[in-house]
Amino acid sequence: MHPPAPDAPILFFDSGLGGLTVLGPTRALLPTAPIVYAADYAGLPYGKKSDEELAARVPALLGRLVERYQPRLAVIACNTASTIALGHVRAALDLPIVGTVPAIKPAAEMTKSGVIGVLGTEATVRQPYVDDLSARFAGGKTVLRHGSPGLVTGAEAKLRGEAIDPEVIARAVAGLRDQPGGEAIDVVVLACTHFPLLKDELQAGFGPGVALIDGAEGIARRIAHLTEGQRWPATAAPGIAVFTCSDDRLPPPLAALAPYGIGSIETI
Ligand code: DGL
Repeated sequence: MHPPAPDAPILFFDSGLGGLTVLGPTRALLPTAPIVYAADYAGLPYGKKSDEELAARVPALLGRLVERYQPRLAVIACNTASTIALGHVRAALDLPIVGTVPAIKPAAEMTKSGVIGVLGTEATVRQPYVDDLSARFAGGKTVLRHGSPGLVTGAEAKLRGEAIDPEVIARAVAGLRDQPGGEAIDVVVLACTHFPLLKDELQAGFGPGVALIDGAEGIARRIAHLTEGQRWPATAAPGIAVFTCSDDRLPPPLAALAPYGIGSIETI
């Protein structure tokens, strides 16, 4: 295989704007990397979809995007899509694929009380993948899970500059705290890439005794490692955002994406 051309982009993929929380730390490590940020707005929220639907939808859509933008590497910046479809995507596409999976391992290393919370989408928290991670890395600890679709809507609203319903944060916190043993939670894994966008609100909700962690920095390091030695442009060019759209779901204003180095929006 030829080494990628300097202008070959990194493709980020999510159902919505959550993947920006992975794009941010990646840009910090690779400041001139060309970026294509794809959001499947027509399919948002993934957390409400069946495993079968996502296992078919995500590889098909990524296949179209890879054909169109010829990336050097693709990042599934979505826990729901990764825990369900990573294997299918890797089998279907011939380029390096980086996934996003719940940061249960570092949480297990960090907890002192032995009780960890996992906050994700409804689809992610029911995955056997999460059972496997818990069994492998959090043996002897208690892992409590809660699926919160409201936080996805809240994160999208925040980036569009809209107010967040405080009830949404309260319900997500109670979803973990009110389970048996939940009062002892001292680490919460933000297992949806949308949720770090609400980190301040969630931190206030859980209180100062709870650490919130996500996998974004680790994913950024993995991307930098996999592209080590490759050539990049000398200066950064504005990134492109690509949205699938439906009648009731239109792309956000460019101003919401500009802080992440995005300079234009396309629809497919
Ligand atoms: N950002 C996604 C994740 O990490 C999912 C949001 C959704 O579409 O439900 O799981």
